[in-house]
Amino acid sequence: MDLYRLPHSTYVFLTLALSCILISRLYFHQTPTVRVASLQKTRDLSQNDTKNFSDSIHANEFPNPSTGCALPEEKRFDCARDRTVSQAECEKRGCCYLPLTQTEYNGPPWCFYPASYPGYRMGPLSPTPKGQSATLSRATPSYLPRDISTLQLDVMNEEAGRLHLILKDPSSARYEVPYVKVPSSKRTNTEGFLYDVDFQSDPFGFVVRRRSNGQVLLNTSVAPLLFADQYLQFSTSLASKYISGFGEHYTHLTLDLNWTSVTLWNRDMAPHSDVNLYGSHPFCLVQEGNGQAHGIFLLNSNAMEVALQPMPALTWVTIGGILDIYIFLGPDPQSVVRQYHEVIGYPMMPPYWSLGFHLCRWGYNSTNVTRAVVQKMQEASFPLDVQWNDLDYADKKRVFTFDPQRFGDLPEMVQELHEQGLKYVLILDPGISSTSPPGSYKPFDDGQQREVFIKNLTGQTLIGKVWPGPTAFPDFTNSDAVSWWEECIRDFHANVSFDGLWIDMNEPASFVHGSVHGCPYTDLENPPYTPDVIGGQLNSGTLCMSSQQALSSHYNLHNLYGLTEAFATYSALLKVRGSRPFVLSRSSFPGLGRFSGHWTGDVRSDWEQLRYSIPAVLLFGLYGIPLVGADVCGFEGDTNEELCVRWTQLGAFYPFMRNHNDRNNIPQEPYVFGQRAQLAMNNALVIRYTLLPFLYTLFHHAHTSASTVARPLFFEFPSDPNCVTIDRQFLWGSSLLISPVLEPGVVDLAAYLPPELWYSVYDGKPYNSKGQYLLLPAPLDIINVHVRAGNIIPLQMAALTTTASRRNPMVLIVALSSQGWAKGDLFWDDGDSLDTFEHGDYSYVIFTAGQSQLVGEPIKLNGALDGLTVAEIRVFGVATPPTGVWANGERVYNFSYETDNKVLTVISLSLPISETFTVQWS
Ligand code: NOJ
Repeated sequence: MDLYRLPHSTYVFLTLALSCILISRLYFHQTPTVRVASLQKTRDLSQNDTKNFSDSIHANEFPNPSTGCALPEEKRFDCARDRTVSQAECEKRGCCYLPLTQTEYNGPPWCFYPASYPGYRMGPLSPTPKGQSATLSRATPSYLPRDISTLQLDVMNEEAGRLHLILKDPSSARYEVPYVKVPSSKRTNTEGFLYDVDFQSDPFGFVVRRRSNGQVLLNTSVAPLLFADQYLQFSTSLASKYISGFGEHYTHLTLDLNWTSVTLWNRDMAPHSDVNLYGSHPFCLVQEGNGQAHGIFLLNSNAMEVALQPMPALTWVTIGGILDIYIFLGPDPQSVVRQYHEVIGYPMMPPYWSLGFHLCRWGYNSTNVTRAVVQKMQEASFPLDVQWNDLDYADKKRVFTFDPQRFGDLPEMVQELHEQGLKYVLILDPGISSTSPPGSYKPFDDGQQREVFIKNLTGQTLIGKVWPGPTAFPDFTNSDAVSWWEECIRDFHANVSFDGLWIDMNEPASFVHGSVHGCPYTDLENPPYTPDVIGGQLNSGTLCMSSQQALSSHYNLHNLYGLTEAFATYSALLKVRGSRPFVLSRSSFPGLGRFSGHWTGDVRSDWEQLRYSIPAVLLFGLYGIPLVGADVCGFEGDTNEELCVRWTQLGAFYPFMRNHNDRNNIPQEPYVFGQRAQLAMNNALVIRYTLLPFLYTLFHHAHTSASTVARPLFFEFPSDPNCVTIDRQFLWGSSLLISPVLEPGVVDLAAYLPPELWYSVYDGKPYNSKGQYLLLPAPLDIINVHVRAGNIIPLQMAALTTTASRRNPMVLIVALSSQGWAKGDLFWDDGDSLDTFEHGDYSYVIFTAGQSQLVGEPIKLNGALDGLTVAEIRVFGVATPPTGVWANGERVYNFSYETDNKVLTVISLSLPISETFTVQWS
């Protein structure tokens, strides 16, 4: 396992057959109205020139834009994203200046590009081993400092559904993201490809069309391409206004395109609107309006901003690296996600136990308090698989130590948990305390000696400040740091046999800006343009941008910090424990899902945050991190009983479910509430535990075929216009529809049921929906869950831990379609070994129902299933009351038929799931 460096030799090797589709020079039919050649060259801006962007440009070097200024507002692209300009400065740039009277801050730009604006001119495309390549050059530098006037364009038609374009500086190596898993492709021709791409030569632009219907998906000729040392920008029209992505933000599932912008820069920031949060995901999925979708990925880890406008269009700005653009053609949303994950890596398979209930709090400040929590959970019969400790355990808040007084018997406590079938996870922050007396804190002493910490510009260990006080930060791009981290984990694990690790504060977060000594004044610290990051400075709440890591500056690598730490932690856990690792990371970047899950950070305990947790979870599925959830009942501030019940119900359907609370709040463990609330929470947990075989099977599919676990409705019903933006409800896989209550006092819920036959998962009550909102009863103890006709859901009787529940009998819900058929599957393994699928150490059973018969058939059998039986089946939608039931040909008598809902229930079965079985009714 490694993080895959990205040598270009591993890219898809394209053959000359590419030229079938990319004819060597494709030009638009329209003649470019601006002739770059006629422009005069301005003076060259040297590498060290840090002057403001426009100062060197002379007005008469650009054509008079007035003729091209008659543009509708939504088609105006900002000519001054980099800084505020006066009318004179705007016109000096050759742009149109038209002040508007709008009062709001957000609106069309006053200074915008005319219809034609000079830019790069594209030379002929010529074949390369990877595809095709062309040179782009501009006769006149742009208004940006350190403009790069010659670029290399690489065009690679990698797969039927994947186009890859790279724009970079051919004359000097620029930083490129080192970690993304790019599979090689053996495609030799473009027959069956889903797209065509055309180039406009002058000024350069490209258009991607869907081949099947000619729809324009991207058109970058709408505004100029800019490529300077610290400012790269392209714009494109969008196929619709339904765009999802560009995380991590506090948003709806689809973004607001009304002159908004989002910043991608990893930051320790509690979720709230309009700010950059913990992770960066430069990817979006665009619904095309006819059930089809495509995705756009900019593989770049520098600070960036994406501006959205109602045209619909976007402008993507990044302040470093190269433009490495992937376009995924779907054609359906799920295929877009699969194509994206083929590039960034499919998600890891989580251990089975990690799908159980997790309980945590900042403030369980001794082993005895922690023990008491577990005991109270058990006494109140709440399922609990994983008990956690926050930083309370650590001696003087220093990771890899435990407080000798309050947590002196931590090793014994963890042993006890294991004996009860529970697991234990604790927190690790990357900040390593740097002020302990020499010889008293091995992680720092060893780390210093091995030079594993990030260095400042002058080569000393950079010191920031986190919970323990002054701290150094491991450089996880340095292989020595990865080994040192493994040793720290190994040494600590020899004492405390934790089962998983929670990596927090890994944006990385620091309580001082840059370092305790400040930061030097450099172009990295103070770039000519800083995206709209919270705090105003790139180093706000983190390290100096000029600090040095093995692979590059922190300026380039900042957004990768959590990913690199997750990789180091995952591989250390794997080596130390020898079984499937569990890592939960706060900071994220594409590829994180290969090693880690994610929680949505410090959510407030309120209804609004409950509601926004759904799009957050769904979007992380798109980003390849399906193991995700928000802190159940909220983290910041006091929760309340009703909120906590509703949050536990929704949390039971987060792929990752953990109740976590802040230090000074009222407690929120399920057992602290009144009887009715406890009952409702218990129901929710029991439902989750009952559904775990189904959830685990969904994770198997995510791991092996990049399907999503928690899934937006539009993924399954892409042509249903009602589903386009729904993010108050969601699906598990393709077949379970979850409709939670998200407001106080609500006991009747208006839920959308897409056009389909649905059954209540609880009693099989059918709803034949034409695609409509229904008013469903939703008393405090109920979360509405519907199963889609045509599916079989494998369940298992719940228990207080998954260690126990995994041995329980299974139940099958058979939700018949109106034609009387259904299908489902079950992936099963030991739940804990690495790569069971890859090694064939698993069992896989398919279930089919039709013609009054259910068949279970193991199509792969490898251990693990031993002893598991199907004890019960519930068949929804059995039109006529059966008079007899047979299991494996033998008559059985323990069945009942519920006439109102048309549900057949057969109990007291004992059908080994490792053998083919049949249940018939007539
Ligand atoms: C910040 C994390 O987001 C939160 O979950 C944790 O409790 C605190 N750090 C303390 O470790």
